[in-house]
Amino acid sequence: MIDFKEEIAKSIEKIIKIDIKEIKTNIEVPKDISMGDLAFPCFVLAKELKKNPMEIAKDLKEKLEEDNNLKDYIEKMEVAGGFLNFILNKKLVISSLLNEFEDKKENYGKTNIGEGKTVLVEYSSPNIAKEFHIGHLKNTIIGHALYNIYKYLGYNTIGLNHLGDYGTQFAKLIEGYKRWGKEYNFSEEPIAKMADMYVRINKLCSEDESVLEECRKTFKKLEEGDEYCTKIWQEFKDLSLEEFNKIYDLLGVKFDSMNGEAFYSDKMQEVIDILNKNKKITESQGAKVVDLTQSGIDTPCIIQKANGSSIYATRDLAAILYRARTYNFDKCLYVVGIEQSLHFKQIFEVVKYLDLDKKYIDGLEHISYGMIRLPEGKMSSRKGNFVTARALLNDTIDSVKDIMKDRDIESKDKIASQIGIGAIVFNNLSENRVKDSVFVLEQALNFNGETGPYLEYICVRAKSVLEKAGYIPKLDEVNIEILQEKESMQVINLLSNFGEIIKKVAEKNEPSILARYLINLAQSFSLFYNNNKILEEKKEIQDSRLYLTYMVKTVLEKGLELLGIEVPERM
Ligand code: ARG
Repeated sequence: MIDFKEEIAKSIEKIIKIDIKEIKTNIEVPKDISMGDLAFPCFVLAKELKKNPMEIAKDLKEKLEEDNNLKDYIEKMEVAGGFLNFILNKKLVISSLLNEFEDKKENYGKTNIGEGKTVLVEYSSPNIAKEFHIGHLKNTIIGHALYNIYKYLGYNTIGLNHLGDYGTQFAKLIEGYKRWGKEYNFSEEPIAKMADMYVRINKLCSEDESVLEECRKTFKKLEEGDEYCTKIWQEFKDLSLEEFNKIYDLLGVKFDSMNGEAFYSDKMQEVIDILNKNKKITESQGAKVVDLTQSGIDTPCIIQKANGSSIYATRDLAAILYRARTYNFDKCLYVVGIEQSLHFKQIFEVVKYLDLDKKYIDGLEHISYGMIRLPEGKMSSRKGNFVTARALLNDTIDSVKDIMKDRDIESKDKIASQIGIGAIVFNNLSENRVKDSVFVLEQALNFNGETGPYLEYICVRAKSVLEKAGYIPKLDEVNIEILQEKESMQVINLLSNFGEIIKKVAEKNEPSILARYLINLAQSFSLFYNNNKILEEKKEIQDSRLYLTYMVKTVLEKGLELLGIEVPERM
């Protein structure tokens, strides 16, 4: 496939000495085709060149017109404000896309740039015996999308769920269970029951020092692998996982490893030993810490508490050693909320003192994201001051069922759940991940808005056009002339950009880039569809437009699949 952006970027690079990659990522498909097929925003150079963008664009145009390499690719260039717009050789654009598409079909956009490289995506990582709330849902959705995209790019991709299954709270739960376990029926809403038990035992601990002391002893026993304690702990874990799996099943999420924090309990001593050997551990109020002031971090990283017990950070460090050895990773991505930024800054510094190959240290990255909340006091999903993910999922799916109640179509329940989940998943991915977001049910379900259901709907519409036609045209039945019309050309330009978009998502670990792209594509296709008859025209026109429809359907479906959204059969 001809990479027009690459060709343009190469020529720009010859004129302005800036990194070709940077030039390329800035070249965009304009929203409005009257601005050309591709556009280069010159203001990105203004600072560096100390010139105004319009002047840069004019200059660039003159020089590029001299470039023989571009003559075949570009019909015309135009300066518009600070943009340099490129009107491409449309025939070449279309034939290049058609050939590539015919060759790849469902795998269009797939590459092997990741071949031979391993990416670990750690995501979800809820704490057992606690509710899985909407923050975990956002986390799981972002991580799942990244996981899918790295896979599509040919990386050996491994999904890790670093379960929070370790800590004194489990000792407290065991003590609670010993006292009141029989009062509860754990087969229904087990997490709520565990949470209730936890509140009770905590209360008792604060009233009675001796109970707290017992809990400490129990924790020690648990750490030492005491049979009874381990059995109860395992039960809490199984009950929690049963609940979490319901959510993972709804979202279609699977993990390659569920090693939680407890898995690293016997692997922490090595971390302490290496840090000791490298003389990095100091004492602070009885605790063992690594001072990080030299790296500009004021808060030292605690490695061991004063009472000798281990800590969250130490388990993360042990996990890095383990993962480096087990997976020989090139990247290890941590999808974790922005509130843990300091924690990751700390462990990414301390890890430098663990005698690890630089490759591993460079491969660590915290993929943070902002908070998600619901509008005040709305949905029944609200439980106390937080919202469980399952309640939100159920509420949303129920609302779709309600909207569909008078419709007479097959597999209504399945469709309702695909639409409901599509609404939630898309809502969590449509904006830059670090931004805080609000889930407003009516907005997320708006079939005409920039939503998951809208994308599903456009895709279903394209599918039904193809079904009605009853065939997919052969490539040699497509007339390139016909696809040069304004509205189809806009769709073609976007389709040509799909592969680039996926690569960009991985470069920035930002699924919203794909989400925004799909909205653009669907809106452009909608415009094309509303203004052009696809079926019943002259055979040649029908075939050409039908093939375009086929490409759009395929790319929408694939793009949504990568985000973690299923397209219903009908809507
Ligand atoms: N279980 C933790 C929590 O819910 C998140 C774990 C994040 N991952 C990590 N490697 N520290 O807050």
